[in-house]
Amino acid sequence: MSLRTATSGAAAPEGLPAAVPVHVGVIMDGNGRWATSRKLPRVEGHRRGVEALRRCVRAAREIGIRFLTIYSFSSENWSRPLGEVTELLRLLRLFLRNDLAELNATNVRVKVIGERANLSPDIRQLLADAEALTRDNTGLTLVVAFNYGSRQEIAAAVARIAQDVAAGRLKPEDVGVDMISQRLETAGIPDPDLIVRTSGEQRLSNFLLWQAAYSEFVFLPINWPDFDKDALLCAIAEYTRRERRFGGVTKSPGP
Ligand code: IPE
Ligand code: IPE
Ligand code: MG
Repeated sequence: MSLRTATSGAAAPEGLPAAVPVHVGVIMDGNGRWATSRKLPRVEGHRRGVEALRRCVRAAREIGIRFLTIYSFSSENWSRPLGEVTELLRLLRLFLRNDLAELNATNVRVKVIGERANLSPDIRQLLADAEALTRDNTGLTLVVAFNYGSRQEIAAAVARIAQDVAAGRLKPEDVGVDMISQRLETAGIPDPDLIVRTSGEQRLSNFLLWQAAYSEFVFLPINWPDFDKDALLCAIAEYTRRERRFGGVTKSPGP
């Protein structure tokens, strides 16, 4: 497959990339457009999207990525038509039931972020089982962002801090960047080095707002059901060409 990124027009490399990002976040977008461009119902795009997710997880393992966060359902996605939401929930159940054994066998640790209180008890159970079964695995950590919204996550963390201050367990002056990071659901997970979004849209849509402060963004002009290992390698190749400065200055040979 020949794929060019929206930003640089670079081709995917052969073999493994020179520098592998530790944590890659993926905004799996464009399922609906993939389907409607083929005169198929939108849900068919979601079904094909699950196959792309399997390819993505396999590729991430092969490339040696340590953390892969996949945005599978946002806090705002409940506003979609009921039939589409129902199908997305069905596909999550199917994925957890059908793929958990293989994820476990390949040493993948599953972690789920997002609000669980308003999910149905059977889905909550499946999510908890996936985390419990794979807790001690040491390979790729697959972070599933389901019913996730970054603003909601930050608001909840701030509310918990406010409770601790009100109860006298914390002083206002103790509240800082690290404390907020540790109170987010991603506590213990390094910030994403690279965030990839398919479908050509160039926005975060409430994904990892706090954690993405210094992430590199790569926007791929393909829809999610067409995603494969070449696409991931292409995004990583673009990432390796970026210079991350974290507010500092360009590394130069010096005077
Ligand atoms: C991404 O594809 C899947 C989810 C958001 C769950 P979309 O369904 O957003 O596809 P488009 O953006 O409408 O094409
Ligand atoms: C973001 O995609 C959410 C997921 C990929 C799960 P959306 O399709 O919901 O985002 P918008 O509405 O285009 O911003
Ligand atoms: Mg979309």
